[in-house]
Order: sequence, then structure tokens, then C-alpha cells
Amino acid sequence: MNLPFQIDLTNKVCVVTGGTGVLCGKMAESLAACGAKVAILALGQEACEQKAAAIREAGGIAIGIETNVLDKQSLKVAHEKILAELGPCDILINGAGGNHPKGQTTNEYLYPEDLENDEISTFFDLDKDGVQFVFDLNFLGTLLPSQEFARDMINREGATIVNISSMNAYCPLTKIPAYSGAKAAVTNFTQWLAVHMSKVGIRVNAIAPGFFVTAQNEKLLKNEDGTWTARAQKILTSTPMEHFGEADELIGTLLYLVNHEASGFVNGVCIPVDGAFSAYSGV
Ligand SMILES: NC(=O)c1ccc[n+]([C@@H]2O[C@H](COP(=O)([O-])OP(=O)(O)OC[C@H]3O[C@@H](n4cnc5c(N)ncnc54)[C@H](O)[C@@H]3O)[C@@H](O)[C@H]2O)c1
Repeated sequence: MNLPFQIDLTNKVCVVTGGTGVLCGKMAESLAACGAKVAILALGQEACEQKAAAIREAGGIAIGIETNVLDKQSLKVAHEKILAELGPCDILINGAGGNHPKGQTTNEYLYPEDLENDEISTFFDLDKDGVQFVFDLNFLGTLLPSQEFARDMINREGATIVNISSMNAYCPLTKIPAYSGAKAAVTNFTQWLAVHMSKVGIRVNAIAPGFFVTAQNEKLLKNEDGTWTARAQKILTSTPMEHFGEADELIGTLLYLVNHEASGFVNGVCIPVDGAFSAYSGV
């Protein structure tokens, strides 16, 4: 595969949660293309196995293990399998994450008449379980795999964790308060963990992707006929580089962060990859 630059990860074991997804699937492929032994941890055994098989067909080393990042036992079982088949974890990518429709509002702003309209989900209709789902998946789904795999990484040369936050951690996006808050927690936790792990040689950083069209957000961004929604057009207007990101555009930042020679003193940062969306005030 085409990499922005080559780094050598031969014999490194990389665990990629959410590794069957659009963004982290590409990350898993890239790490394998650099020689890493990759474990894909995600929901659905078939999806995990398919992604691992595709990496093996391309000449890489990979295994797929169905894992729920919110279930400590499931993580433990995956960990044991990885230890037996690949070895201790060197690099953990916490990519599993996502949103839930019950943690979002229909409209950007609240108007009095919306309160009388059953079709409109306002702030007052946000569902506790929906909000909880989003916080669990993004925040606990980062913390629990870190607890499981960081044990392997203590004082291991080049050990590092990369969390996947979002540009909305800096400034919340309208309609998705749970997802914005949960990703803010991921960025904050990245800083906390970097400090906590600084005496045992584990660097912890994050990437904050901007807008990438993926399965997760496709319905918010594309109409049924494939044209952009009003929200998508607004995003493009607010993105100085005027396009949505492609998964490939995250890879250079990922390889930089996992490469100890390049980023060995970079710790506790969250790097936006968003075409300057988060830097633009709109004026
Ligand atoms: N798509 C975007 O524009 C965008 C922007 C910013 C941040 N992100 C973040 O990037 C990451 C990857 O996004 P994506 O669009 O590639 O995701 P995706 O929706 O394509 O895939 C989600 C992945 O997470 C896994 N997953 C979900 N729940 C899980 C659980 N309980 N246990 C284990 N795995 C679970 C799925 O199996 C899948 O592999 C996510 O953390 C997402 O929040 C995405």
C-alpha cells in the first residue's frame, strides 16, 4: 500500500481497537505495511477476521479477535490470545468509538415551538441511556483497553498509546452533545495518562480527526440521492481546505506518533487533522 513515508515496526505488536472501521481499518493496514504484527479488536468475528485476512493477503501479519472494549473479560481473553500468538503489546491504538442517535438533538438551536413538536428531539429529549452509551463507548472504551494492554508496555522500548479523539473535543459541534463531551473526555484522559505513565516509558498521545465521511456519520452528511446535506455544506464552508478528509490523510500523523525516533519527546498531545476546521473562526 502507499504510505506517506516508511517506518520500521518489524516485531512490534500493535493492537488496534475499532480496527474494522473506516479510519482505524486503514490505520491497521498501514501499521502492518510497516512490518508490525497487528491484532484487530472490534465487534463481529467475521468483520475482524476479514480485515485480518486482507492484511495477510497483502503480505502482513494480522489476527482478528472479536472483542467488546467495554467488557473486561472480553479484553482479557483477547489479550491472552495476542500474547500467545503475537507477543506482548508495544503499540495500542484506541480507535473504537462512535455516536448514538439518542444522544443527539434534531436541531442546532432550541425554539419554543419545538417543545410542542413530537417529531423534534430537543435537549429535553436527550435519552440518559443514549448519552451513557456514547460516554461508555468513547471514554471507557479507551480507558479499559489501556488498562488491559498498558501492563505489557511498562518499560518496553518504544511503547506508546494513540487515542482517537475528535476535533469536536476542542469546540462542541451542534446536535451531538454526548459525542462532543465524550471526545473531550478522551483528549483530557490522554493528557492524564501521559503524565501518569511518564515514569514507566509509555507515551500517550491522541489524534483529533476532523470530518471524514464514514459509516458513522454518512446519514448526517449525505442525502439519499448522494448529494451533500445542508450540514455537510456548512462543514465544507467552515473547513478552510474545503474538503472532507480521506482515511489516508490520518496515516502520516499516526506513523509519526508511533515512531519513537521521530516523536520520542512528544507526549500528552492531541493533534488535529482537520483541514484547519478547528483553527477557523468563520471570519
Ligand atoms: N468518521 C469521522 O469523521 C470521525 C471524526 C472524528 C473522530 N472519529 C473517531 O475515529 C474512530 C474511528 O471512526 P470510524 O468512522 O472509522 O468508525 P466506524 O464507525 O467505521 O467503526 C467503528 C469501529 O469501532 C468498533 N466498535 C464499536 N463499538 C465497539 C465495542 N463496544 N467494542 C469494540 N469495538 C467496537 C466497530 O466494530 C468498528 O470497528 C472513532 O473513535 C470515531 O469516533 C471519526
